[in-house]
Amino acid sequence: SLPGTVVEPKTASVAEPLLLNAVRGEDVERPPVWLMRQAGRYMKSYQIICEKYPSFRERSENVDLVVEISLQPWNVFKPDGVILFSDILTPLSGMNIPFDIVKGKGPVIFNPLRTAADVDQVREFFPEESVPYVGESLTILRKEVDNKAAVLGFVGAPFTLASYVVEGGSSKHFSKIKRLAFSQPKVLHALLQKFAISMAKYIQYQADNGAQAVQIFDSWATELSPVDFEEFSLPYLKQIVDTVRRTHPNLPLILYASGSGGLLERLALTGVDVVSLDWTVDMAEGRRRLGPDMAVQGNVDPGVLFGSKDFITNRINDVVRKAGKGKHILNLGHGIVVGTPEENVAHFFEVAKGIRY
Ligand code: CP3
Repeated sequence: SLPGTVVEPKTASVAEPLLLNAVRGEDVERPPVWLMRQAGRYMKSYQIICEKYPSFRERSENVDLVVEISLQPWNVFKPDGVILFSDILTPLSGMNIPFDIVKGKGPVIFNPLRTAADVDQVREFFPEESVPYVGESLTILRKEVDNKAAVLGFVGAPFTLASYVVEGGSSKHFSKIKRLAFSQPKVLHALLQKFAISMAKYIQYQADNGAQAVQIFDSWATELSPVDFEEFSLPYLKQIVDTVRRTHPNLPLILYASGSGGLLERLALTGVDVVSLDWTVDMAEGRRRLGPDMAVQGNVDPGVLFGSKDFITNRINDVVRKAGKGKHILNLGHGIVVGTPEENVAHFFEVAKGIRY
């Protein structure tokens, strides 16, 4: 070039987080890795915060605490994804559904929704008004993490959210939501529609404020038989994906459902970019069933983290080999379990980050 001219690189690309490269099917040297529930009670540093701030709502709705807790696993393990510390129920109070998360009991919905009149009381969600701390936290996380990892947002899927608000909390048999589904389907559909509109908006809001990929948790959709999944979950997941694609065509969307082996092909019909597999599906079979275009996430049994270091190493290698090169985010098949030794989590990340295809 002539002296004095500035040489512009041909492809002026800012280095993107490995997780995004992997989802897009680009050439990557190893699978990116993060763990569901990587921030939480298995960490001593989180337990210390819990002693000082015993209310889950406070820990998850205060910007300083949300940022600090989200960054705890980042500071120690340097995962390739940093997920916002929050909960799928967080938007509910903004939709006029009061809730709490009670220690030892889990989610509690004070006035479970059971009738058409109850559903009428549910308000549309305006994230910037109801949960401004989520946007602020994501913005700060983006600055802190600075593209060395992807900042991940998440939402609950309509059916899974409905299961909490109809049952009144966690459930074993899902009898109340099934009663509603199978005796007054219109009432449930009205509720699911409200959640679909609101969660699509929530994803857009998270992306606008810094989330670089968003995971949709339909944890309990697998309580539905395939025909019922097609009626009560799939259309709303599709609606969310289609709505978000219109405004954010390049935002990777990850879909997780617990125990989804019977529904894998149907999960792919939602149009998401990544299906997150739990450990009841063999990774190689899951891959085959989802086809080459779908990226996969998972799927080490969280219980493996209670095994020896060699055992953990072997299980990581097994999943990585079965997933094959590219389009794979290494993760667990569900969240880290309370009581998991932190040093085993450290070992998991060390092994994962040392992998080369
Ligand atoms: O992954 C992360 O690190 C981000 C944090 C996160 C939480 N909840 C924090 C949390 C995420 C992604 C969630 C999602 C969530 N919440 C799901 C979908 C994922 C899944 O597990 O299938 C569901 C179903 C919920 C509802 C919910 N919130 C349950 C069933 C519980 C557990 C109750 C208990 O006491 O174990 C919660 C509470 C909750 N959310 C905790 C955490 C860390 C534990 C309570 C605490 O730390 O005080």
